[in-house]
Amino acid sequence: MNTPNIPTCITEYTGDLSGKKVIVRAELNAPVSDGMIEDDFRIQKFLPTLQYLQEKGAITIVLAHMGRDPEDTLEPVAEYLSDHVHTMMFYKDFFHSYGTDEFVKNTNTLQEDLSHATPGDVFLLDNIRQTGAEKKNDSKLSEILVNLADLYVHEAFPAAHRKHMSTYGIPTLFSRETKFSGITFHREHQMLSKALKPTSPSLFILGGAKFDTKLPLIESFLPIYDHIMIGGALANNIFQLAGFNVGQSLVEDVTPEQEESLKKVLANDKFLLPNRVTCETVSGETIEKDISEVLDTDTIYDISTEYINSISEHVTNAKSILWNGPLGYYEGGFDAGTKRLAELVGQSDSFSIAGGGDTVDAVYKTTQETHFDHLSSAGGAMIDYLSDGELPGVNILLQDLK
Ligand code: 3PG
Repeated sequence: MNTPNIPTCITEYTGDLSGKKVIVRAELNAPVSDGMIEDDFRIQKFLPTLQYLQEKGAITIVLAHMGRDPEDTLEPVAEYLSDHVHTMMFYKDFFHSYGTDEFVKNTNTLQEDLSHATPGDVFLLDNIRQTGAEKKNDSKLSEILVNLADLYVHEAFPAAHRKHMSTYGIPTLFSRETKFSGITFHREHQMLSKALKPTSPSLFILGGAKFDTKLPLIESFLPIYDHIMIGGALANNIFQLAGFNVGQSLVEDVTPEQEESLKKVLANDKFLLPNRVTCETVSGETIEKDISEVLDTDTIYDISTEYINSISEHVTNAKSILWNGPLGYYEGGFDAGTKRLAELVGQSDSFSIAGGGDTVDAVYKTTQETHFDHLSSAGGAMIDYLSDGELPGVNILLQDLK
């Protein structure tokens, strides 16, 4: 059933999927090392939709990107998936030759294979970013791909902030009745919409870096959430604005407007300013200290666990918690503050959502994953959705043909 603001999930499709050709835009951008998948979180989130389509007898054509280098391949993902689905064909380097005769030949072969496909077959095409046509939202390639299928399913919520061919151009060419969200996309959308209307008392925690994308979120959530805590590199700017020495710590350049906005955040009662931090000293020693004791030669790398413990009441009492981004230099091993917070949020009875690669990693490393209501597989798309309340990849599923 179509509702005005929520794309229809593929599980609500009332027709017969058996033998129907379905393009699924999947999110398979997983970290790979030495040809092996390092973290299968996103691939696992794709399996419910893929298996649903297989069970219903659909013939599934999977489009997905891998990394940002056109040489990146989905081959490790194909190997991983072949253990979880039956009858999958992988078309290595499929898009590499787009614009040449070889591509025409490859497309004819794919069409031929599709015409002999049996219900449940899966066709995975290699990294769609192997052609620049993806980012350019090329209409010719969109048409070629749309002609292969009867239905479209968007199962790449983490890429739904991109107006690319596979996330935007292709669904533009499907009518509203023939395009759907995938199971994970649907849940992401539902859960993140709840985060826009938190139950009081509520707590919003924001870490990581990049003021450009995160400051709008802080501004729009200040009136909505009861408490806001900021960690990561973002916190260094705020410490500095509050008059503390941040030594050698990473501080982002901000515009005068951004600085004004941050001053307002700082002056707001809802804002929780961490008062203990973890620093690396000039001799390479890691120590926790009061923010007022940071030396010129120190580098702040984390919010101290002592501070996290000191706000445990805010976490325990909260009815809604939304968390995006690590509190420290997580990939550099400064993960104690983030992990302690993951434990506290996991132990609270709140409705809790966490998102972003490092944040979710910390939740798993502290074995709290079953205690969160939702772990988002999205990074930039989560931030954009929370800031704007909409995403191009969601809107396009709600639009009819022009
Ligand atoms: C992600 O990894 O967050 C999504 O796959 C989007 O990737 P992109 O930022 O390279 O578009």
